[in-house]
Amino acid sequence: MRYHSHLDNSVTAEFGDALLASLAPGGGLWMPDSLPSFSGRDLARLGAMDFADCAAELATHFTDARFDPATLKATCRDAYDFDVPMVTLDGQHLHPAMPPHADEFVLELFHGPTLAFKDFAARFMGRTASHLLTKNGERRTILVATSGDTGGAIGDAFLGQDGIEVFIVYPKGGVSTVQEQQLCTIGKRGSNVHAIRVEGTFDDCQQLVKDAFADPDLVERFDLMSANSINVGRVIPQSFYYFWTALQARAAYPHRPVVFSIPSGNLGNLTGGLIALKMGAPIARFVVANNVNDPMVDYLKDGEYRPRPSQPTLSNAMDIGRPNNFPRILALFGESLESVRGVCWGASFDDQTTGRHLTRVFRETGYLMCPHTAVGHLGMNAFRDAHYMDATFVTVGTAHPAKFADSIETLIREDVPMPEALAKNARRKPRVHDMAPTLDALSDYVGRYVR
Ligand SMILES: Cc1ncc(COP(=O)(O)O)c(C=O)c1O
Repeated sequence: MRYHSHLDNSVTAEFGDALLASLAPGGGLWMPDSLPSFSGRDLARLGAMDFADCAAELATHFTDARFDPATLKATCRDAYDFDVPMVTLDGQHLHPAMPPHADEFVLELFHGPTLAFKDFAARFMGRTASHLLTKNGERRTILVATSGDTGGAIGDAFLGQDGIEVFIVYPKGGVSTVQEQQLCTIGKRGSNVHAIRVEGTFDDCQQLVKDAFADPDLVERFDLMSANSINVGRVIPQSFYYFWTALQARAAYPHRPVVFSIPSGNLGNLTGGLIALKMGAPIARFVVANNVNDPMVDYLKDGEYRPRPSQPTLSNAMDIGRPNNFPRILALFGESLESVRGVCWGASFDDQTTGRHLTRVFRETGYLMCPHTAVGHLGMNAFRDAHYMDATFVTVGTAHPAKFADSIETLIREDVPMPEALAKNARRKPRVHDMAPTLDALSDYVGRYVR
């Protein structure tokens, strides 16, 4: 597969080069030249595979000659060694013999090592990038801005990999206590993963990383690579789970269309879903669920895109006022608002509504959602109120609730049980560098480790 810059079709690259370069020359986002499409028979065959094998087959269409099918199969089996369950609020897993009235599921994308959906993209990206770097004998410095989950997933995926130094930039006070502990305990002294706490918001962190990539001297001096969703290597693997789970939902309920509700911030997850839809996955609609940082929902409602400074909320990983992937979504739909509206519907919710909803669902069903997933679930309910439709309604569960134990415990007034992976982190000594959000401070710090 070849990729082109969303700013200039004549600027092209193969997958491996787009992955390692992060941005196209001139600052454009890499877009696949075309998307694979599958016959009904192929869809049935892919849906009958397990997730890792289906992902590997899809990956053959998006990569290049440096990745043979056997390598991709081994990569995906190694990366995706965890469950991808769709569950009802009373805890039943989707299966083909479910009763017809079961039409509401949560797709739990948080069973990977860092307990958030970011593991899907980070683990694929980490393995494909190191495959190339080892082959070429090259090195890279990864800069990643995080609102909490990306940094953990990228740090975990790249930990200990030769030729790669990872710098995770996060906003002071902008991530949960559990997320911060996770970010600051991945890298031990002497390892290749470093946490940087910045005095500012997530938008400041994202801007800092963007400024670093816009500085040709820094890019060259440090061989910079982005692990944020501006990198197409992050977005492509996010299409795999939509593709496969839509096929699972369709196999269980052949006559029902599938609707996904996605708690959204930078819109990387939504972009993955839209790519899956364009590849022929049986998906009828996407609900874009925002907190009060809702430029995408505004765009869907009144056709105007107004990026703005972000405001802090309970669903902190979605506190994004200028979503990175907005241009990709427009490019996928030929810049047509009506085409985007044909598949996306949006709604946004304030913290009070989200907190009340999370608590009510927990009291009524025993199912505990993280605040982001609760925004997604509210979005799905709003969609159902606004459209009478017989469908399989799937809310995307983006993180394990224990990652947000501090805010959830205040809401439900009960302890949130900690999974062992997080309890283990809590016992480790954090290691973090405090820094002002300036390019000079960033380049000084990175320069201590990369020469
Ligand atoms: C838990 C959680 N939910 C939702 C999102 C939003 O995803 P996206 O930025 O791809 O829209 C994030 C992103 O960081 C997240 O960590």
